[in-house]
Amino acid sequence: MSTQFDVVVIGAGPGGYIAAIRAAQLGMSVACIDAWQNGQGGPAPGGTCTNVGCIPSKALLQSSEHYDQVNHHFAEHGIEVKGVSLNLEQLLGRKNSVVKQNNDGILYLLKKNKITFFHGKGGFTSEVEGGWAIHISGTTTADIVGKHVVIATGSAARELPGLPFDEQQVLSNDGALNIAIVPKKLGVIGAGVIGLEMGSVWLRLGAEVTVLEAMPEFLAAVDTQVAKEALKIFTKQGLAIHMGIKLGEIKTGAKNITVPYIDTAGTEHKLVFDKLIVSIGRVPYTGGLNAEAVGLQLDDRGFIVVDRECKTNLPNVWAVGDVVRGPMLAHKAEEEGVAVAERIDGQHGHVNFNTIPWVIYTSPEISWVGQTEQQLKASGHAYKAGSFPFLANGRARALGDTTGFVKILADAVTDEVLGVHIIGPMASELIAEAVTIMEFKGAAEDIARICHAHPTLSESMKEAALAVDKRTLNF
Ligand code: FAD
Ligand code: NAI
Repeated sequence: MSTQFDVVVIGAGPGGYIAAIRAAQLGMSVACIDAWQNGQGGPAPGGTCTNVGCIPSKALLQSSEHYDQVNHHFAEHGIEVKGVSLNLEQLLGRKNSVVKQNNDGILYLLKKNKITFFHGKGGFTSEVEGGWAIHISGTTTADIVGKHVVIATGSAARELPGLPFDEQQVLSNDGALNIAIVPKKLGVIGAGVIGLEMGSVWLRLGAEVTVLEAMPEFLAAVDTQVAKEALKIFTKQGLAIHMGIKLGEIKTGAKNITVPYIDTAGTEHKLVFDKLIVSIGRVPYTGGLNAEAVGLQLDDRGFIVVDRECKTNLPNVWAVGDVVRGPMLAHKAEEEGVAVAERIDGQHGHVNFNTIPWVIYTSPEISWVGQTEQQLKASGHAYKAGSFPFLANGRARALGDTTGFVKILADAVTDEVLGVHIIGPMASELIAEAVTIMEFKGAAEDIARICHAHPTLSESMKEAALAVDKRTLNF
């Protein structure tokens, strides 16, 4: 007889393992299945985020930032370092050990919460008495039944038609995190989040990086003022960014890769690279689920169709994270995982899509939450704007990083904060205050009246809030 669980979670990325933990906290019997293998064939839970996404990319961003600092910025602090050299093997090895610490941490958490972990691929067999029969194959072979099933199978990198990833010359995010020798010339297709983050890493480590983007507008989803500032800074750092291009037929050779493209003026170009990162978005992943056999509904782009509560078309089958609509972000997947576990328990789990923050971990960092100025203009929403430059912030001056600004958009009548946009040092951390205020439907004046420690970067948030009312104190 198959083992029966209250909840079976397929996928142990941030959506899946967090759903499993929350369900276990609520007293349910939980199984979690994940197929990811580490270099030795063992389990490596954490999904894209832990293995080839958020965590390793941030490890490389940090290491390459240190390298850039020691080479270009230590001298201004009076620290003279001679003979700096790069040990790329050590740098990549450190990244791998950061990944392993996270894999091990998740295995520990699953055990601590008495979740039964299966290392293998989980797929639906059929609907049976008591729930859904799930077959597990791979490292483990087993048949189990879940009264509820939570699908959290994530996403995969999108390929350019006719140019499959070989991870040697044509790199997805996976290969982009594992280049053994710094390429002389690195091409990046797509000036999105991965293109800019990974482009920055390899630029800092010494590559000549060219980014080719199809859209005419740089970072179209970002507040225009921030996007403009970012393009100016990234270009000054040395990223060659070409917007509005149309790719021709890309040819891979023995040692390099040739990328022809036409620019906005219609002029033809041909660039030759040692390696090419293709970062043109991601596609939902449902491989091995046997979705068709049980009639699980997918949309025309391959996403599992869910309602607002993450319910699929099948009874007691839920789906969360990258495999369903909405932003492909780890924290969005986690929030959905928690909400689904609570809904299974009969509670009213909730995810507020209006307050999901975004961060691009370039230098300077970019972060935002809520609406952009162009969105407010387009919808005719009357608003007030206030901004404050890090140039006028004492802590930023002490840090030696005064690029960028904080911008707050508030309702013209009620003063409710509608959007916050930051480009500058530690923007990833600063945005949390904005999210909190927006969750509580707070006003710009609320931020302005809160006591912020001095000297901190967060004072720029307070000053931007004061600027909404045209009364900055330090600018
Ligand atoms: P995933 O993390 O993709 O996990 C899915 C898991 O399910 C995988 O382990 C997979 O092996 C497993 N699986 C799939 N099918 C089966 C099956 N049939 N049986 C068993 N197991 C299966 N987001 C952020 O918020 N911040 C960042 O800084 C950030 N950086 C990123 C950097 C890069 C380079 C990339 C590629 C992504 C980044 N993301 C970031 C996005 C983030 O990684 C994803 O949004 C997040 O991982 C989605 O979580 P998930 O649980 O839905 O899916
Ligand atoms: P993306 O959607 O951010 O950017 C893809 C870019 O490629 C777009 O600008 C698009 O216009 C462009 N593009 C598409 N087709 C093209 C073509 N044929 N030629 C030239 N350009 C083309 O996708 P990306 O960077 O691949 O990242 C995928 C997702 O992973 C992100 O959307 C995000 O959800 C997640 N992610 C999040 C991070 C974070 O939170 N810091 C970091 C990295 C990834």
